[in-house]
Amino acid sequence: MRILIASDHAGFEFKEMLADRARDTGYEILDLGPQNRDAVDYPDFAHQLARALLAGKGDLGVLICGTGIGMAMAANRHPGVRAALCHDAFTAEYARRHNNANVLCIGGRTTGPGVAVQILDIFLATPFEGGRHERRVEKIENEEGTGRRAPGIVPPTPDKEQQP
Ligand code: RB5
Repeated sequence: MRILIASDHAGFEFKEMLADRARDTGYEILDLGPQNRDAVDYPDFAHQLARALLAGKGDLGVLICGTGIGMAMAANRHPGVRAALCHDAFTAEYARRHNNANVLCIGGRTTGPGVAVQILDIFLATPFEGGRHERRVEKIENEEGTGRRAPGIVPPTPDKEQQP
C-alpha cells in the first residue's frame, strides 16, 4: 500500500516522524513536502496531496498542520477526498470503519507524538466496514442535485434497514 504524506511548517516534524513510522511498518511512502521547516501555506500541500490521491498515486493520504483543521478543509474541497481530522485511536478507527476516510489529518500542535503514531497505525490498518455505511458514504459523495459521483464509489445496495 502506498501512502501520500504532506504537511505545512507546523506539521513538518510529525510528517518526518510519521513517514518513518509508516515505512518501518512496511508501507511505501510518497512524501509531497515540504522538505524543510520554512513557513508555507497549508492549502498548497493539501490540494497537491488531494490531486495526487485522486490521480491514483497513492491509496491513502496523511496531512499534518498545526491543528489539522485547515488541511481537512482544503482537502475536502476535492470530491472523492474524505479527509478526517482525528484526535485519538477511536476517531482514527471509525473514520476508516464507518466513513471510509481516505485522508488522515492530524494536528502537530494539538496531538502528542505517541498518540499521533497510534492514530496513524490504526488509520492505516483499519478497513472500511461497508454494508449500510456504503450508502451513507455514497450520500456524502453524491450530493443531491449535482450528480457528482466520486471515483471508486459504487452505487449502494439496499441493506436490511431499507428492505420491507
Ligand atoms: C499555521 O500557523 C497554522 O495556521 C496551520 O498550521 C494550521 O493549523 C491551519 O489550520
